[in-house]
Amino acid sequence: MDALTALRLQLEWGVDEALEALPINRLAAPASVRALVLPAGPAARAAQVAEACSTVEALREALAGFDGCALRTTATNLVFADGNPQARLMLVGEAPGGEEDRAGLPFVGPSGRLLDRMMASIGLDRRHFLITNLIPWRPPGNRNPTDSEVVLCLPFLLRHIALTRPRRLVLLGSLSTRAITGSATGIRRMRGRWIELPVPGLDRPVPTLPMLHPAYLLRTPGAKRDAWSDLLMLRRALDTDELMK
Ligand code: URA
Repeated sequence: MDALTALRLQLEWGVDEALEALPINRLAAPASVRALVLPAGPAARAAQVAEACSTVEALREALAGFDGCALRTTATNLVFADGNPQARLMLVGEAPGGEEDRAGLPFVGPSGRLLDRMMASIGLDRRHFLITNLIPWRPPGNRNPTDSEVVLCLPFLLRHIALTRPRRLVLLGSLSTRAITGSATGIRRMRGRWIELPVPGLDRPVPTLPMLHPAYLLRTPGAKRDAWSDLLMLRRALDTDELMK
């Protein structure tokens, strides 16, 4: 098969990006990580590995080496977090898209640019908050993550929250809201009020505000009015807590 025919075939099969000149074997785990492999199912292993981490840096390394979630093998980079790790405000999105996958940073694509403008409208930028995702690897073709992928990634996110100890948490979108709160109520009904979220490892629940995802706002500009009202709620709460001036 000549190169052009092979390329056409790849396009037909859904390849939509050219990332590296040479293939990378992402199935080969580094030796230090193999030592972590425990004789349990991947979900139990995820919980054990996450819980054993006592610093955010250890958590990032454990996640980078965790071989229980197949998304790792198709992603270009781990997308762990951005912003200020010391901030008392933490934002959680859903999963990285193409630009995030290439940069290894959350929310740097179109929805990230909208989110930055939204946060700027209440006087905040990435020095004021830490931002991460429920899923740290891009699902191929930006499909929704499966339930089992969510179950595998959730312990790492919960540990990240516990180690960061935010005073306020914002959940962006229905996927992260459903996974983290365990509630089946839709995001349109959950947004607009603070809930108290119990987090394993923290002695107090974290006041948490579910909000509409910026990608949804890009598709549904009419919902920006609700988003603005949620942003004002967030700003008022930060002012009340005297968290950021
Ligand atoms: N959408 C998300 O939820 N997270 C990202 O990082 C980018 C887009």
